[in-house]
Formats: sequence, structure tokens, C-alpha cells
Amino acid sequence: MCGIVGYIGGRSAAPLLLEGVQRLEYRGYDSAGVAVIENGGLVVEKAAGRLAKLQSHLGDRVPQGTIGLAHTRWATHGVPNDVNAHPHIDCGGTLAIVHNGIIENAGGLREWLMEQGHRFRSDTDTEVLAHLIEQFLDGSLVEAVAAALRQVEGAYGIAVVCASDPGTLVAARHGSPLLLGLGENEHWVASDAAAILAHTRDVVYLDDGEIAVIRRDSYEITDMETTRVEKLVRTLEWDLAKIERGGHPHFMLKEIMEQPESIRNTLRGHLLEEQGTAKLSGLNMSDDELLRVERVVITACGTSWHAALIGEYMLEELARIPVEVEYASEFRYRNPIVDERTLVIGISQSGETADTLAAIREAKRRGGPTLGIVNVVGSSIAREVDGGTYLHAGPEIGVASTKAFTCQLVALALLTLRLGRLRALSVLQGREIVQALGRLPEQVAEVLSRADHVEQVAEAFMRSQNALYLGRGYNFPVALEGALKLKEISYIHAEGYPAAEMKHGPIALIDDMMPVVFIAPRDAVYQKILSNVEEVKARRGRVLAVVTDGDDQLSGLADHVITVPETIDPLTPVLSVLPLQLFAYYTAVRRGCDVDRPRNLAKSVTVE
Ligand code: AGP
Repeated sequence: MCGIVGYIGGRSAAPLLLEGVQRLEYRGYDSAGVAVIENGGLVVEKAAGRLAKLQSHLGDRVPQGTIGLAHTRWATHGVPNDVNAHPHIDCGGTLAIVHNGIIENAGGLREWLMEQGHRFRSDTDTEVLAHLIEQFLDGSLVEAVAAALRQVEGAYGIAVVCASDPGTLVAARHGSPLLLGLGENEHWVASDAAAILAHTRDVVYLDDGEIAVIRRDSYEITDMETTRVEKLVRTLEWDLAKIERGGHPHFMLKEIMEQPESIRNTLRGHLLEEQGTAKLSGLNMSDDELLRVERVVITACGTSWHAALIGEYMLEELARIPVEVEYASEFRYRNPIVDERTLVIGISQSGETADTLAAIREAKRRGGPTLGIVNVVGSSIAREVDGGTYLHAGPEIGVASTKAFTCQLVALALLTLRLGRLRALSVLQGREIVQALGRLPEQVAEVLSRADHVEQVAEAFMRSQNALYLGRGYNFPVALEGALKLKEISYIHAEGYPAAEMKHGPIALIDDMMPVVFIAPRDAVYQKILSNVEEVKARRGRVLAVVTDGDDQLSGLADHVITVPETIDPLTPVLSVLPLQLFAYYTAVRRGCDVDRPRNLAKSVTVE
């Protein structure tokens, strides 16, 4: 998710643009840039790092001019550096564009444009748009933008200026949010209302397939065929803090609620339904190299380690590859067996966790091919592994990891599909997995729509001092993750266990003061977990159960029930973890805890 701001009016644009992107830094902050039309020419300044780096780079040499663009980047294609920072320009250096989204067919377009003589400077998909518009530019900027966008597949929110048309700012939206801000003889465009709230509360939201032609004292919105579209002017009611959190009280809740979209972004462009497999070009490994892998080691920390456990179950069941999961902090110091046939996968949201980075380096020293499943593009782990796949989940600000976890599971399912279809899965089995993955965003949205019920259940347990989470099979690691979520933000002690292990000790803890959370969707081990629930009820334990819609057995036994839609066993954790994220969140809020910044914790543990 990047931050976009555009301005056209009577005031100096650069200071307004920089102030606007400053308010959007929470959306992405690995590089920033500004473009202003000054004395008939285009001035572009950009730098890797936080916005402050750009501001110090500018010093008092702020470009003069009353129309321009600014951008703060969350990298998706191309590592964060000066060249890949936005705005991007055309060959002639007279046209600048800023973009939020992913252009899926950027590769093919780049090749065609190079054949037409265009020269590229960056590794980004966005620069392709700059040259594509240049290719079509013949007088009208908006017609060139429309012609270019008709060639594009993927998601975008863009803003464009051109020195040859200094009175016009063009913006367009497909899949990434964009709005117009209406001022007195000045207009704005932004990816998020936070950027312009200080100047106007009158906004027009663009919808997918719409293009805006914005001038100092007028604007017009059309569809892709430049047919005029009438839009409502809305008045912003929210304050700044609320806007940054998408209207939610905390980043954690915003990120929980973003999961239908973040999972769509993780899946985007990877599912091949006809072949029943996944396209993962970032692995940088051929089919032969993947077939030579004899065992897999997945190494990570915390929530990412829980995802690794689920990945182990997926890969062993569906790709028939032996897998070991290792705490990175343990792997790096013991004498692990790794050779050229051992594929070592590091999972990390931040891509900066010191133990996981060290474990990857240790694996490379021993000759093992390494992959990363990482959210932050250009992070240390992403740069040091031999290949991998990005989550594209957008920035995760809340210290407790939520959307990154479910996106890690989806990424692991894509990797399992890719490897499984090489080794063990039929095309029909592959298609079943592809279809189940394709249904996930709507199913996730369905579960999240039940948040109010989860909030009521949390009310019943918020005074507990301890909790036990129990699951089997794919949902045993979900029990670990649910326990971690609760303890790290509400400070209630919670333990996750394989449900059958309860008889080997933890059952001594069961009484009416010990809530027990069972994760028991309808899967291959569902019947087994029923007996565990009866054992707890027989000892007056209070049971909260996460079950599949329509469940008529466990629901009758549990004190509180939260249901999730049915899916294939390997994907049940993506749905069953959602009520546990919400349960932990509402419990912590009720206990007055600082949900986004829990005590003693950091978002990324970059030290040992
Ligand atoms: C998860 O809620 C925690 N914040 C923590 O366990 C986290 O998952 C762990 O530190 C690993 O971080 P990473 O994914 O960025 O490597």
C-alpha cells in the first residue's frame, strides 16, 4: 500500500505535497519522492528511506510550481532504493506518475516498450506505465492515460502530470483507492483522506474504471471510454487518527479486517486453475531443481513459526516431502544437517528478524538452497535468500501479527501446490486446491462479519487469568497461535497444546476457572477432538469451540461456539484463526491493554 498525493492550485505545491505524504507514511515508508512542474519543466526529487531523508535531501531547494505529485512507497516490485522510488518519468523526462497497486502484465509491456525504443531506469512495474503513456501521448494527456490503462492488467491508483500540459492533473483508479479533494481554486488527489484532511473535507471517491481530469478550478470524471460520470461530493467526518486506522480504533483491528484483501493480494497472479497449480516465478528454481529437493527445513520465530508448522503438514501431506520445522534461534546455534538437497525456507513478516536471518545465513554456508516467504520487499532476508515469494499483505503496523499470518499460510499453500503437482498431485487434486484458495477471501470476509458475536464471547472470558487452547492436525498450530495472540496483547497466560496431549498433564489444570478453547473445524480428526471436549466438560471446564458452519455435535457440548465456513483441511487454519485473533483483540481492549503496542514487545526483533 503506497501513499499518493497530487495538487493543482494557486499555492506552492511542494510543501503541501510533502505534508500530505507525511500523513500517509503509515501506508508505506521505504522510499519517497516528489515531482513539480516548474517554469515549464518537470523537477523530480526522490530518495530511499523515510520521508525525512527526502526532506533533508531537498533542504531549502524545494521545487517551485503549483502543480505536482508526491509518493511514499511500500515496495512490491523492485527493492527500495532511489531509482525505484516514485514518481517515475518517461524517456523525455516531461511526464511523471505515482502509483499504488500491482501491474500484473508489466513484464510483457516492458518488453514491447523496449522494442519501441523506450529506455528504462528502474525495476518497477510503475515505470512501465510512464513509458506506456508516453507511447500514446499525442496532444491529450487524459486520452494517452486512458489508452495506456486499456493495455494494463492488475490493480492501480495513479496520478499523472506532464510538463507539456501544466494545467492538468490526471488520476485513475482500478483496485486501489483514490479520491479527489475539492478546495477553493485548488484540487487534490490522494490515496487516502488523511493526506488532505487539513485542507478540505469535501471529497469525491473514484470508483474502479474511472479517470479524473483535474484543473485548478474544475474537475471532470469519466469512464475508460472518456464518457462523463456524475459523482457525489461527500464530506469527511472522521478525524486524522481514525482515518489512518481505516475507521477502526486500532491498527490491529484494521489489519484483521483487511484480510480478505490481503489474501487476494497474496493470491494475485499465482493461481493456474486449468493446470491445477501455482505460478511462483520468484522461487528462481526450475522444475528439475525443485525435484532434486529431498527434504525441507522451515525456520522462523513466533507467529511465523506457527505458520511453518502448518506448512510442514501441507508439504508432507500433499507434496510428500519430509519437512522439519526449526525455531530459528535454535537452528542457528546447533549443528544442523543441511546439504545441497535440503531446501531451507525462512518465513518472516518483517524480513529483519535477527534469528531468522542468521538461520538463513547458516543454511547458505552449508550449501542449502534458500527461499524466503516475506512481507517487506527488499528486507534483509528477502535480499539474502536465493528466491521466494512476497506476501503483498501491505504494512502490518500492529505488533501482534494477524494478516501476515494468514497470508503466510496462503503462500505456503501456493508453494505446496507448486511442489505437489510436480511430485504427487493429479491435475484434478490441484484444481480442487486452486478452487478452495480462490474461495478464501469471501469466506474470510464471512467470518469477519461475525466479529460482534466474538466480542460478546470475549466479554465472558475477559477476567480469566489463564487459558488453554487445544487443536489437532492442521489446527494444532492454530492452538499455539491463538494462545500467543491472547497472551501477547491481553497478558492473560495462555498455552496451546495438541488436544490429545491434554491427558498427559494439562488436564490437571481443568476446573471452572480455566477456559478451554477448542479449534475443531470439520476435518479428518474432528471426531477425535469430540472426546477431548467431553473430558474437559466432565471436569467443569468452560469451553469455547471454533467449529464449522452447521456443526451439530460439538456445538451441543460447548459453552460458547463460533462457526467458520467449510474448506479443505489444509486451509482450515486460515479461517479458524480469525475468531482467535478477534477474541484476543476484544479481550485485550476490555482489559484496557495497549493493543497496538503491547508492553515489552517490538514489531520486529532485530536483535538476538
Ligand atoms: C507475532 O504476533 C509476534 N509479534 C512475533 O511472534 C512475530 O511473529 C515474530 O517476532 C516473528 O516476526 P517476523 O515474522 O517479522 O520474523
